[in-house]
Amino acid sequence: MTAPLLSLRGILKHYGPVHALDGVDFDLFPGEIVGLVGDNGAGKSTLVKVMSGATEPDAGTILFEGKPVVLRSPQEARGIGIETVYQDLAVVPWLDVEANLFLGREITGASWWNRWFLNKNAMRREAARHIASLQVGLKSVRQPVGLLSGGQRQSVAVARAISWGRKVVIMDEPTAALGVRESRGVLDLIKRVKERGLAVVLVSHNLPHVFEITDRIFVLRQGRAAGTLVTHEAHVSEVVGLITGVRVSAAVA
Ligand SMILES: Nc1ncnc2c1ncn2[C@@H]1O[C@H](COP(=O)(O)OP(=O)(O)OP(=O)(O)O)[C@@H](O)[C@H]1O
Ligand SMILES: [Mg+2]
Repeated sequence: MTAPLLSLRGILKHYGPVHALDGVDFDLFPGEIVGLVGDNGAGKSTLVKVMSGATEPDAGTILFEGKPVVLRSPQEARGIGIETVYQDLAVVPWLDVEANLFLGREITGASWWNRWFLNKNAMRREAARHIASLQVGLKSVRQPVGLLSGGQRQSVAVARAISWGRKVVIMDEPTAALGVRESRGVLDLIKRVKERGLAVVLVSHNLPHVFEITDRIFVLRQGRAAGTLVTHEAHVSEVVGLITGVRVSAAVA
C-alpha cells in the first residue's frame, strides 16, 4: 500500500454555533479520484477550502507527502502542487479567458526584446488548446470572462486548475452549471488528469458522475465522515444511505 499524498486528521471548523467540520479524517492517495459527497450543508466546501488553504481549520492536522503542513493561503497550497476549482467561482470577470488561465503565472520568453511577443503567442496557444479540449464552444480566448455564460466561465476555471495542478486537483461541483456536452468534456478531462498521475478530489451531487469516474467515495454528513466506499464495490443505495443517515438494508430487514 502506498502512502497517502494528502491526509487530514481531526479537522474541526466551527462558524459560531455551526459545526461545519467536526473531527474529519480524510486520505487521498496518488493517482486516485475520490468523490466527496453529502447533502447541502454537510461540510464539503468547507473541507475543500481547508485542503486548498482558503480556510484555516480551528483544530486538526494536514499532512502532505507525510509531512505536517500549514496552508495559510491558496497560493501556499498551489506552491506545493494543490490546485482548486471553487464552488463560488474565482475568475476575474474583466480579464479575458487567456489572462484568467494564466493569472499569476505568465510564461516568460527567452530574452528581453522578444519576451512580450513570445509570451503572448505561447500563452494564446496553450489557452486555445485547453479550452478546445473542454469543448465549451468559445469563439476566442480574447473574450472577457464576464461576457461568458456561467457554464463557460466554470469551464475556464476547470481548465485553469487542470493545466496547473502538479499533484492534487480539487474540484467543488465542476459540472453543476454545465450542459450535457460540457459536463462530458469536464469528466473526460478529469480522467486524463488521473492518467497524468495526479490525485483528484471531486465534489458532486451528481451520483452517476461520481460513480462513473471515481475510485472511492467519501461521504460527509453533518460535518462528520459518514463512511468511505470503494466505488466499483458500492451501490447507489449505500451511498444514499450514508448521505441521509437512513440505512436502506436495515430499514428493509
Ligand atoms: N463562511 C461561513 N460562515 C458561516 N457559516 C458557514 C460558512 N461557510 C460554511 N458555513 C456553514 O457551514 C456548513 C457547511 O457548509 P458547506 O458550504 O461546507 O456545505 P456543503 O456541503 O458544501 O453544501 P452544498 O452542497 O450546499 O454546497 C453550513 O451549515 C454552512 O451554513
Ligand atoms: Mg458546497
